[in-house]
Parts: sequence; C-alpha cells; structure tokens
Amino acid sequence: MRILIVGCGYVGVPLGAELVKLGHEVHGLRRTLDGAAELEAAGIKPLAGDVSRPEDLAVLPGPYDWVVNLVSSSKGGPEAYQQVYVDGSRNLIAWLRGQSAPPKKFVYTSSTSVYAQADGSSVKETSPTEPKSPTSQLLVEAEKVVLEAAQQGFPGVVLRVAGIYGPDRGHLFHKFCRNEARIDGDGLRIINMIHRADVVGCIISALKSGRAGEVYNTVDDEPVTQTTFYRWLAETLGKAMPPHATEDETATRKRGETSKKVQNRRLKAELGYQFKFPTFRQGYTTEIKRLEDAGLLELAKDER
Ligand SMILES: NC(=O)c1ccc[n+]([C@@H]2O[C@H](COP(=O)([O-])OP(=O)(O)OC[C@H]3O[C@@H](n4cnc5c(N)ncnc54)[C@H](OP(=O)(O)O)[C@@H]3O)[C@@H](O)[C@H]2O)c1
Repeated sequence: MRILIVGCGYVGVPLGAELVKLGHEVHGLRRTLDGAAELEAAGIKPLAGDVSRPEDLAVLPGPYDWVVNLVSSSKGGPEAYQQVYVDGSRNLIAWLRGQSAPPKKFVYTSSTSVYAQADGSSVKETSPTEPKSPTSQLLVEAEKVVLEAAQQGFPGVVLRVAGIYGPDRGHLFHKFCRNEARIDGDGLRIINMIHRADVVGCIISALKSGRAGEVYNTVDDEPVTQTTFYRWLAETLGKAMPPHATEDETATRKRGETSKKVQNRRLKAELGYQFKFPTFRQGYTTEIKRLEDAGLLELAKDER
C-alpha cells in the first residue's frame, strides 16, 4: 500500500516505522522539513505542507491507498483547533476526493475529550458528545466532517483516543516524579489512558478492518481513579503519595474536567484488537524500566 501519515509526530513516526516494516511505502507530512532526518531514519519519506492550506495539499504526490490524519494543534487554542482539525479535515477530504483514485481507508484520530460526562459513568461510542470546552467542541465538529463524508461514500473512520503515554510522554507521571502532582478533591476523578504502541496498533487495525463511518474508542482496559494511579506509582517507585490540592487549585482545575470510564468493547469485538499494554500497570512498568536502564529516571526527593 501507498500510505500518507498527515501530522507525522509522536504517534506518526512509530506508526510509519511499523508500516514500513510491514512492507508499505509510507509518506509523512509535517509543516516543514526540519525533522526530515527523524522520518527518514524510520524509512518514512518526508513531505512538507500545511493541512490548513489547500494549495499545499494540491501538490502532494498522491494518490494514496491509506491515509491517517494525526495532526495536532500543537497546544493551540480554539483558533488553532478550527484551522488544524476542522478546516484541515475538510481540506484533506476535498483533496483526496479529487484524486484519480480516492483512498481505500482514511483514519482520523479524535479524542475521548469529546465526552463531557463527569459523573464517573461508563461511556461508549453511542454516548452523548456534548463537551463544554470550546476546543473539544471543535473536535466534535471535525468528527462530523469525517462522518458526514463517510455517509457520502468516503471511507472515513474515527478513533477517539484517550490520554497517550509512552516514551517521553505522560503528563501525570512526570508531575508525580517531580513532586508536582496533586490529588484533587476526593481523588476519585477517573483517568483514561493508552500507550503509544497501542495507538499505533489500533490505527493499523482500523486501516485494515475499521468500518467506514464508524467510531472506535481507543483506550486501554482500565479507566483508573487519580488516587489508584498515584498509589500504584508511589508503591512502584517507593515514593510518597502526592499531597491533596487546595480547594482553590481543585476549583480551578475542576472547570470543564471530566470523569468517565471510556469503554473499548467495540475496538476489541469488531477490530479484534489485542493490547500490548492492557493497562497503565504494564505500560508504566515498561516505561519505568526503560528510563532506569537509560539512567534517565529522575525522582525528586519526598518532601515529607
Ligand atoms: N497526546 C494525547 O494524549 C492525545 C489524546 C487524544 C488524541 N490525540 C490526537 O492524536 C493525534 C496524534 O497526536 P501526537 O501526540 O502524535 O501529536 P504530535 O506529536 O503533536 O504530532 C502532530 C504532528 O502534526 C504536525 N502538524 C501540526 N500542525 C500541522 C499542520 N497544520 N499541517 C501539517 N502538519 C502539522 C506536527 O509537525 P510540525 O509542527 O513540524 O508541523 C507534528 O509532527 C493528534 O490528532 C492528537 O490530537 C492525542
């Protein structure tokens, strides 16, 4: 297959490397060629172009059999979300539809932040997606672009990806190591995670057997409370539990925060996906060992 990875970054590079290993020809798009060497080292052919500029897409060397849209807003606000996710998806689909041969599959990575549920309930793909934050509302909008195109025959599949962790990523883990973590309120807020290697695996499964017009929650087997997560890290790393946040800190953080158990049944039942790291326990055991072996595990001294 001839494959295009749009937004070839943290997930895109190992995804491309894996697809190259499987014998495919993989092209990776970023806004500039600054990181070309990293892509080339993984066997990916680097391309430069901005998804928010249709004229950049028009000159890409299509057609492609499979396309994966992994662009991210690079921590931007609503304006960046609109340009990258909503306009970017529209531009990509319009360009691909105009190719001599349209793709056989198009996978778009949305986010579990489209679920606003904050009561600890279980959510599946058919649960309401009515997020409060303007950025997550734009992710719902971008999903709609893909799903409406699918209704007209475009082979778009949406993956709702949970918080990605893995080598050099994992916001809460790094805060814990630096003594910057805090337990909010009763500590029962639920976190949903997935290891990068499994995001890669799920994308490949979706390329092969995802159904056009379908949404798949892309999350591991264990939604976990903040307290359970930190307790496991504390016991594993021999460090103290983080302190509780002050009421002010909790109130600030609580705005717009969700607490839900995102279910992955469809992913496993329909795509037959088997996790390399079914829960954060296996994933972080591997990551902690990797850091230790490389002499990179830095733990701040306990304050108490
Ligand atoms: N990280 C998470 O926890 C999480 C959770 C849920 C969903 N997701 C989604 O998962 C996907 C992959 O995430 P990731 O962590 O791999 O993202 P990432 O490391 O930020 O990679 C995104 C890539 O997109 C490129 N890019 C940014 N803007 C672009 C544009 N306008 N046109 C073309 N390329 C552009 C960036 O390169 P340049 O800056 O060099 O252009 C970068 O290589 C994203 O769609 C993200 O929204 C992530």
